[in-house]
Amino acid sequence: MARHLTPSIDYIRKLYAAQDSLLASIDESLLRLNIPIHIGAEEGKLLQMLITLHRAEKIVEIGTLAGYSTIWMARALPPGGHIYTVNKDPAHIAMASHFFDQSEVRDSITMLEGDAHAVLPQLSSEAPFDMIFIDADKISYNDYLDWAEKNVRPMGLIVADNTLLHGTMGLDLPPQNIAPATWHNMRRFNERLADHEKYFTTMIATQEGLTVAIKLF
Ligand SMILES: C[S@@+](CC[C@H](N)C(=O)[O-])C[C@H]1O[C@@H](n2cnc3c(N)ncnc32)[C@H](O)[C@@H]1O
Repeated sequence: MARHLTPSIDYIRKLYAAQDSLLASIDESLLRLNIPIHIGAEEGKLLQMLITLHRAEKIVEIGTLAGYSTIWMARALPPGGHIYTVNKDPAHIAMASHFFDQSEVRDSITMLEGDAHAVLPQLSSEAPFDMIFIDADKISYNDYLDWAEKNVRPMGLIVADNTLLHGTMGLDLPPQNIAPATWHNMRRFNERLADHEKYFTTMIATQEGLTVAIKLF
């Protein structure tokens, strides 16, 4: 998400990505808890745009937090569409359940509890998926891409947040405040998606970097 709300982001949010009271209350709760690490509203609108353009009906999200991005995405699904969202943190799961229960899209959301490494193999029985949104532990992005390669349909979407890793991807070496393994893993993830035989990819230059890739195989 955009960590600093610039006048331009504020303008875009107000004009095109206004939050309703439910999304605003998730936003406020996370701010109060000092974990405002959800996507921004304008990114929620962008995810909705991708779902609509791509006619995505079956989506997997890795990293629910309080369900902010899940609700944005669920609201763009066509009738009968479904989103599976995975989270391992009991406090986050409780928060997300609370907000999902208040949402009109609750029936199109299934929350799967546990570490994504354990949950995703079980979810393979529901494949193929039209889209995956990766927004969890950064060191595991390649593991999630391995899973997506097998379980997202040809021409399906792979979307991932924070792929600039706090603005460090353009550096030659990992900076001191980033674990080298995480930095190298994110570099590798981005490079895998730059294989133009397999993917049609770009990165939207949000503050954090939002990768959008079409899986060509
Ligand atoms: C950045 S937050 C997700 C924000 C959310 N997508 C949004 O924009 O509203 C990352 C979430 O991933 C969860 N997470 C981190 N590693 C995970 C893992 N290995 N398996 C499942 N969930 C994980 C964390 O508990 C946290 O809730």
